[in-house]
Amino acid sequence: MKVTVVGAGNVGATCANVLATREVVNEVVLLDIKDGFAEGKALDIWETSPINLYDTRTVGSTNDYSKTADSDVVVITSGLPRKPGMSRDDLIATNAGIVKSVTTQIMEHSPNAILVIVSNPLDVMTYCAYLNANVDSKRVIGMAGILDTARYRSFLAEALNVSPKDIQAVLMGGHGDTMVPLPRYTTVGGIPVTELIDSETLNSIVERTKKGGGEIVNLLGTSAWYAPGAAAAQMVEAIVKDQRRVFPACVWMTGEYGISNMYLGVPVILGKNGVEKVIELDLNDGERELLSQSEKAVREVKAVLDGMNS
Ligand code: NAI
Ligand code: 2OP
Repeated sequence: MKVTVVGAGNVGATCANVLATREVVNEVVLLDIKDGFAEGKALDIWETSPINLYDTRTVGSTNDYSKTADSDVVVITSGLPRKPGMSRDDLIATNAGIVKSVTTQIMEHSPNAILVIVSNPLDVMTYCAYLNANVDSKRVIGMAGILDTARYRSFLAEALNVSPKDIQAVLMGGHGDTMVPLPRYTTVGGIPVTELIDSETLNSIVERTKKGGGEIVNLLGTSAWYAPGAAAAQMVEAIVKDQRRVFPACVWMTGEYGISNMYLGVPVILGKNGVEKVIELDLNDGERELLSQSEKAVREVKAVLDGMNS
């Protein structure tokens, strides 16, 4: 199995490193537009193989797509990251141009690849990749939900002083401040979280989760990479190993939850065909209203991209 990661920056290199270290595939190609950058990162990762004891081959490429040929999965992280004071949506024009050009070149060399999109604004960049990939929408998937639930789960683990391994959660909507963490579907070792934590603390964790990306941007001056890179690698693993993992992911909506004609985060089963199934939860009125607000926010950004394309 072969995976290409486009963009050898913070998120892309981290994703490649996780894929290699965990031996998810035989070969990881890292591609970047900056001269020598991907080759340098790939070589550095490869040189950890005798220390970390793995044999996944990691190679770099400066914009030479022939090296990416016949990839099974391609992760697209190329694009500008957020800076302090910048919303994800500010990135749209620049990143749309990058995602369009990368997707077109990738599909020329790997027509059967499944695409995992990371570039922001996530929901609309995933749509942008879909518009340019000319493949079934089940094969173009955005990464956000695993990252956002990981943040939510890690904050809960800290508050409850329990292992994050035992916290299961689902979250829906766009990758932005309108995302919808769902406490009603959050459990700790099978116990509903609402039985273990007071509502004020839970609400503050939900709010912190929604602004989790911004929290890191304010601390670092750029956006996160360890958790995003690991989250994208987890999606790749689910696909290449046909694990049928249940994750929140950004997918093309065809009437589920009454939503169509856009990419949005919902729980899905991920396997060898990409999105194997969208899971429809029986949301209550409050949850539906929050999802609808998030849908509206993503549609506004989508309209900007549609306007640029018309
Ligand atoms: P970075 O700046 O460290 O890396 C981006 C890389 O893309 C750079 O090395 C750049 O040279 C490369 N690049 C730019 N144009 C290219 C092109 N046409 N072809 C190939 N490579 C190209 O940025 P970082 O931190 O890795 O973030 C990457 C993207 O991921 C950003 O858009 C960021 O907002 C997004 N992101 C999304 C998350 C999510 O949850 N979906 C989480 C974290 C970041
Ligand atoms: C994140 O959530 C900024 O989307 C990026 O870390």
